[in-house]
Amino acid sequence: MTLLAVAVSGRGVVPPEEPVVQADDEAVLRGRAAFETVRVYGGTPFRLAGHLARMQSSAERLDIVWPGGFEALAGQALSAAGAEDAVLRLYLTPGRERSGRPVSLALVSALPDDLEERRKRGIKLISLLGVRAEAPWLLGGVKSTSYAVNMAAETEAWARGADDAVFVRDDGVVLEGPVTNVWWRVGCTLYTPSLDLGILAGVTRAVMIEAAPAAGYEIAEGAYPLADALGAEEAFTTSSVREVMPVVELDGRAFERGPAAAALQQALREEAMR
Ligand SMILES: Cc1ncc(COP(=O)(O)O)c(C=O)c1O
Repeated sequence: MTLLAVAVSGRGVVPPEEPVVQADDEAVLRGRAAFETVRVYGGTPFRLAGHLARMQSSAERLDIVWPGGFEALAGQALSAAGAEDAVLRLYLTPGRERSGRPVSLALVSALPDDLEERRKRGIKLISLLGVRAEAPWLLGGVKSTSYAVNMAAETEAWARGADDAVFVRDDGVVLEGPVTNVWWRVGCTLYTPSLDLGILAGVTRAVMIEAAPAAGYEIAEGAYPLADALGAEEAFTTSSVREVMPVVELDGRAFERGPAAAALQQALREEAMR
């Protein structure tokens, strides 16, 4: 994603090419930092309060003191970028080792340019072994910058000819994608893994749960085996940047692009434009 603008705590807007993190920041040394990825529609970050609440709880789990001030920092970066539709990424690092001085960053980037083409085409998923145990130190449900495993899973999916991965626990229970929540439909019921599996509480997932009844769907959350997803009539993934992405293949099983993904994508856009 092309970086358009950067704002840093205590400094404000800085040129995007300027270094903003020091070599001994724990985010660099250990991958210990909280982050959020927020979609910007018409210059306004969508559900910023929801993202910041999740970021604050990620910071608590990572033992980083919450400094606040992200709304203002995001505003500065967004004004500097001047982009209508964009991606806003927020980072909270612990700062230099043992300094106790966290660093807040707001980055505004251009949207990936292939999203709508992918939405039209639909995406292919493969299941990969993933671990999201409930033990707190495994940081399930925390959006930390230790995402190397998630990125490696995406790379593995691409190497196997798919567009994205879906993590499945060793007992076959479906979890989430590396950067998405997953859904499938049987009749008028939308199934999605429950949060107590240690998956991320997606902001887009919450929008789906709000919007589903008006679109004619009920929601079922639980611990479901991959076989259930493979037997569904339709499947899709959700995330802030990619929104609702229809799935046309899961582990080689083909799906038709279905009505729920289309209706919920529209509902999401309507909510964002309100
Ligand atoms: C592991 C994981 N699950 C789900 C999501 C989707 O969350 P959201 O809808 O808040 O973007 C993300 C977002 O990046 C994620 O990293």
